[in-house]
Amino acid sequence: MNCNQCHATGYANTPNTCEACHLTDYNAATDPNHVAAGFPTDCAMCHDEGSWGNATFDHNTTSFPLTGMHASVNCIECHAAGYTNTPTNCHACHLTDYHGTVEPNHAQANLSTDCTQCHTADGWTPSSFDHTAATGFALNGSHQNVNCNQCHSCGLCQHAEHLRGLPPDGLQRDDGSEPRSGGLPHGLRDVPR
Ligand code: HEC
Ligand code: HEC
Ligand code: HEC
Ligand code: HEC
Ligand code: HEC
Ligand code: HEC
Ligand code: HEC
Repeated sequence: MNCNQCHATGYANTPNTCEACHLTDYNAATDPNHVAAGFPTDCAMCHDEGSWGNATFDHNTTSFPLTGMHASVNCIECHAAGYTNTPTNCHACHLTDYHGTVEPNHAQANLSTDCTQCHTADGWTPSSFDHTAATGFALNGSHQNVNCNQCHSCGLCQHAEHLRGLPPDGLQRDDGSEPRSGGLPHGLRDVPR
């Protein structure tokens, strides 16, 4: 390469970052359109000096490897707001999904918004949640077929002491009133909060 291509204005203070000399190339790139995609202007993240055509970018070098279902998601879906300060918390991008859940209704059951407790990027179902390991309260027998919300949507039944060992008749509501008959969890479903 001719010295003048880089030293047209002399030899002192020649900028040494790629973008200082190649911003025009960045702006002109159409496949992919770098401006539209909001790519970082730190070209070295994806390019070397060999050729623009052999870009490499290994997302696994960031703190957010693209695993499971994320591997096939288009860059722009996560980077619509650019490439810097992209949140890594699941709930930052998936709160709408949380509020859209019906089976179980997460908000109603007051489940944590720390999705990693129960999910990975491999898919929302099945959940990796293990009730026994996580809470010490095993879901045995008919409890296995009970929807989370039947136990977790009312104030009373969330308290372990009310569900452990006590016969339904011995239960008391939080407000001290008599419980409905009918056994667990059926008699508890519509206990007022
Ligand atoms: C691809 C661009 C590029 C080409 C081609 C290039 N240079 Fe450079 N050169 C630079 C950069 C960038 C610096 C500044 C390096 C730094 O500050 O870290 C530099 C620094 C220098 C310096 C030191 C200047 C100083 O003040 O310290 C000299 C001398 C120099 N180049 C001479 C040449 C000569 C002679 C050629 C041709 C044989 C040449 N360069 C070709 C990019 C280039
Ligand atoms: C001081 C200016 C300067 C700097 C700094 C610089 N380049 Fe260049 N580069 C040039 C010039 C001038 C050319 C030759 C003209 C052209 O193709 O744009 C060139 C050519 C290239 C080419 C070949 C383009 C083609 O058409 O085949 C690539 C790729 C490239 N540079 C990448 C980089 C990367 C990556 C960096 C940062 C690590 C960098 N350059 C830093 C000035 C610079
Ligand atoms: C996040 C990664 C990334 C960054 C950062 C990035 N590029 Fe690219 N660039 C690509 C990819 C991917 C391609 C497509 C070529 C390929 O697949 O190898 C490409 C292609 C290009 C092309 C050819 C496209 C065309 O339409 O001809 C140019 C020119 C280019 N990049 C310049 C730059 C410059 C200049 C910078 C920095 C100012 C930069 N790129 C920063 C990923 C990146
Ligand atoms: C499922 C979401 C998701 C997808 C899809 C995704 N990214 Fe990211 N990306 C992130 C998150 C989250 C971060 C922030 C990681 C961090 O802070 O270390 C990030 C960071 C980056 C960064 C910045 C790295 C840095 O150190 O500043 C670049 C560049 C980037 N992604 C490029 C891409 C490209 C190119 C694609 C498409 C091939 C892509 N991403 C697809 C979520 C995603
Ligand atoms: C920066 C945004 C972002 C972050 C952070 C993020 N995701 Fe995603 N995720 C997406 C986008 C975009 C999709 C594709 C659109 C969709 O399916 O919601 C996706 C898809 C998914 C899917 C596939 C949904 C389906 O059924 O198609 C799962 C599961 C998922 N993400 C779980 C997670 C988990 C678990 C975390 C935390 C470890 C997480 N995501 C963090 C943006 C993000
Ligand atoms: C305490 C455990 C737990 C937490 C925390 C949790 N989930 Fe779930 N989630 C589950 C269980 C259990 C299922 C049902 C899985 C099945 O049917 O196999 C589920 C299912 C889902 C489904 C599919 C069901 C539907 O109705 O659409 C989505 C979407 C979902 N969760 C999103 C999230 C998001 C987003 C977060 C974080 C903001 C989150 N979850 C946090 C336990 C949890
Ligand atoms: C038969 C009733 C019952 C069902 C059904 C049930 N749980 Fe629970 N769950 C409990 C009880 C009782 C506890 C309290 C255990 C303890 O504290 O010892 C609990 C505790 C929890 C906790 C911990 C709460 C905390 O504050 O630490 C989470 C999270 C949880 N359950 C999620 C779920 C999810 C998700 C489902 C559906 C897949 C579900 N539960 C189904 C009775 C139930």
